[in-house]
Amino acid sequence: MIKAVRGTRDLLPPETALWNFVESAVRDVFRAYNFQEIRTPIFEETQLFSRGVGADTDIVTKEMYTFYDDRVAVDGPLLSAIGPSRELRASKWITLRPENTAGVVRAYIEHNLESRGLNKLYYIGPQFRRERPQKGRYRQFYQIGAEVIGPASAGSERPLRDAEVLEMLDTLLRRLGISDFILYINSIGDSKDRAAYNEALRRALEPVVENMCTDCQRRAVTNPLRVFDCKVPQDQPIIQTLPLISDYLGAESKEHFENVQALLKKAEVSFEVNPRLVRGLDYYTRTAFEFTHGALGAQNAILGGGRYDGLAELLGSREPAPGIGFAIGEDRLVMALEGRASETMQRADAYIAPVGEGMNRNALVLARDLRREGLVIELGDRSLRLKKMFEAATKAGAKYIVIVGENEVKADAFAVKDLATGEQVSVPRAELPGKIREWKIG
Ligand code: HAM
Repeated sequence: MIKAVRGTRDLLPPETALWNFVESAVRDVFRAYNFQEIRTPIFEETQLFSRGVGADTDIVTKEMYTFYDDRVAVDGPLLSAIGPSRELRASKWITLRPENTAGVVRAYIEHNLESRGLNKLYYIGPQFRRERPQKGRYRQFYQIGAEVIGPASAGSERPLRDAEVLEMLDTLLRRLGISDFILYINSIGDSKDRAAYNEALRRALEPVVENMCTDCQRRAVTNPLRVFDCKVPQDQPIIQTLPLISDYLGAESKEHFENVQALLKKAEVSFEVNPRLVRGLDYYTRTAFEFTHGALGAQNAILGGGRYDGLAELLGSREPAPGIGFAIGEDRLVMALEGRASETMQRADAYIAPVGEGMNRNALVLARDLRREGLVIELGDRSLRLKKMFEAATKAGAKYIVIVGENEVKADAFAVKDLATGEQVSVPRAELPGKIREWKIG
C-alpha cells in the first residue's frame, strides 16, 4: 500500500470546507485593505533562499528540498546541438519554496510591480520544509501571507505601515472567531544596530561557546544572532545570559519601535514586547512579531512576520524597497478553528431518486434545473433500489429526497420526502426550487 509521504497529508472533507471558509474570509479582509493576490512558482532557484532567507538559517542549512535540475543533460543529438557550455548554463539548483517572501520580492523586482502600483500583495499556498513532523508541523504546509513593499517615497518604511499590518491581523483573527491569541513584538534594529549587536554577541559567546552544540559553535562565527534558533536544552541557560538587542538599538530604530507601539495602542491592538524575539530568518530589520495561540500545544506560533528593509536590494533591486509582511500557518489556523468543520461544510439540499424505466433522463433534466436555481443536488440512478438511494441520500447529507417516477412525470409534480421527519408531499415542478429553499431556511 502506498501512503502519503511522511510530513504530508491529505486534506479531506469536511475539513476542506473549513479551509475554504478560512480562505474566503481572509480574501475579504485583504480586499478591505486593498491587497491584491500574487501566485509565485512552487520552486525557485536555490540561491533566492540562500541569499534571501540567509545561508546560516535552519531553513537553508537543514530544511530545504533542493535538487539539481539537469534535464537538459541528455545524450545524443540534443546535447551536441546545444553544446556542453549551454548545457551547464541551463542546469540549475532548484528548491521547493520553504517560504514565500523571497519569491514575492523577486517577482516585485522582476516585473517592476512598483511602476504598476502593485505593492500590497497577498498569497495562499503550500510551502515545504524538511522539519521533524509533529502536531502542527508538517513538511508540506500552507501559508497565508501578505507583503507591503517599497518604495520609500510611498512611506513603506514608516511605522504606520507596521501598525496597519498588525491591526489587519488582529481584525482578521477576530473575524474568524479567534480571540485567544497573544501578539508579541520586538525590534531587531537596522543593519548598523545589528552589526554592533552581532559584535557584542560574538564577545559574549567567545568564552562559553565551546560548551554549546556544534551548530552554535558554527553560528557564533558566521552569524551569532542565529544562536537564538538553538533548540538544544543544555544550551538554553547560556542563551538566557546573552545580551539583548534592545540595548543596541540606535536612536532611529528606537523611535520607529516606539511609534509602532503608540499607533497600536491608538488602534486598540493588544501586544506584549518580547525582547528575546528575533525570528528565524535573516532578512528581518526593526519590527519583528509573532502571534501565538494557546490551544495549539508546542507549535503555538500561528503566524510570524516583520519588516525587511534591505531584502529587495539584496535580491538585486537598484532602488531601495523597504517592506513588511507576515505569513499565517494555515494548518495551525484551521487547527484553532477545529470543531467548526461540519458547520462550514455545505451538504446536498436534495437527492433525486429516479424510479422506473426511462426515468434517469427525466431525473437528469430535473437535477440540472434545480442546480441552475442554485440548489445542491445529488443524483441517484434507477438501477439502484429505492432503499439504497435513501441510504445514499442520508450519507450525502441531503434533507429531502425527490422521487422521479412515471406518475410524477405525467403529473409534472414530484413526491418530496423529508428525510428527518418522514413526511411526504407532492410539489408541482415549478414550485420545487422555491419550496426546497423555503424549507431549507425554515
Ligand atoms: P515563518 O515564521 O518561518 O515566517 O513562518 C510563518 C508561519 O508559518 C509560522 O508562524 C507557522 O504558523 C507556519 N509554519 C512554519 N513552518 C511550518 C511547518 N513546518 N508546519 C506548519 N506550519 C508552519 C515566514 O515564513 C516568513 N516568510 C513570514 C514573513 C512574511 N515575514 C515577512 N513577510
